[in-house]
Amino acid sequence: MLQSLAFLNWPVVVAVVAVFVLLQLRGARSFAWTLACFAGIYAFLRFGFATPIPSSVVQLYLGITLLALAAYVTSSATRREEFLAPLVALVNEPRLRPLLAATLVLLPALAAGNVYLGSRETLEAPAFGRTVHPAPPDTIPFGDGKTVDLAKGQNPLRELETKEPERYRAHVENGRRIYYQNCHFCHGDALAGDGMYAHGLNPIPTNFTDPGTIAQLQESFLFWRIAKGGPGLPAEGGPWDSAMPAWEKFLKEEEIWEVILFLYDHTGQRPRASGVEH
Ligand code: HEC
Repeated sequence: MLQSLAFLNWPVVVAVVAVFVLLQLRGARSFAWTLACFAGIYAFLRFGFATPIPSSVVQLYLGITLLALAAYVTSSATRREEFLAPLVALVNEPRLRPLLAATLVLLPALAAGNVYLGSRETLEAPAFGRTVHPAPPDTIPFGDGKTVDLAKGQNPLRELETKEPERYRAHVENGRRIYYQNCHFCHGDALAGDGMYAHGLNPIPTNFTDPGTIAQLQESFLFWRIAKGGPGLPAEGGPWDSAMPAWEKFLKEEEIWEVILFLYDHTGQRPRASGVEH
């Protein structure tokens, strides 16, 4: 029973009810009541629930509250007069001049403060549907006029893994050297995407130990991304410029295939099957 009541923020609810009771006991007039009702319902909607309600919903309910209060206040001539009396007095009575002046300054100041606070929000990139893994092309130009065929989906060195394990190991070791000379600054010592430059980058470098990354991809996809880097991402991979360098400018074709072998070997992941027999 108590559990099911935990969705309310009880101190706030009790405080709101207490204020209502107090006003009732002191025989508050229509004006004070109306203001207190509005403020109380606002406080209840905004702070009364353990899980906050979206502000658009709060605004909707406050709009309805305002209409209901307006209907109540204007429902009889007596109520109308009772409600307006303090306002008329504020505008007309000389002894209330300072209060009138303060109100005239405070109301716009409050609105201005609200706008100021709202516009001070930290700048964040807008939400954007990004295709994290855009479709790779079938062939890509590489280096000086070469073309690399990616349609086969697989690493030309991969078959050595079973056919010539020793040569395969030598290529993996070469890949290790290439990785620690070029990649660990961003992708991390343990390939976990937490290299020393990672904190300064948005998007952050890929964590290759995460089973949701390279294990979901074919080796040719990795080749494409490593060769072309962030600058070579198609539009749907945007909207920002990824810091991933275009390695075709620095590594040979075979070196890229080697570093790919190393990424899988070190993390114990397997590339996604290409569906092509070797
Ligand atoms: C300057 C930092 C930096 C360096 C150095 C760097 N990368 Fe990256 N890399 C990134 C960032 C950032 C991303 C994520 C954004 C993206 O996909 O473009 C990324 C993404 C990748 C991806 C794409 C993974 C996917 O899921 O699409 C691969 C593969 C990759 N890097 C491999 C490498 C290899 C191999 C090297 C070294 C030869 C390397 N990176 C060096 C920053 C770097």
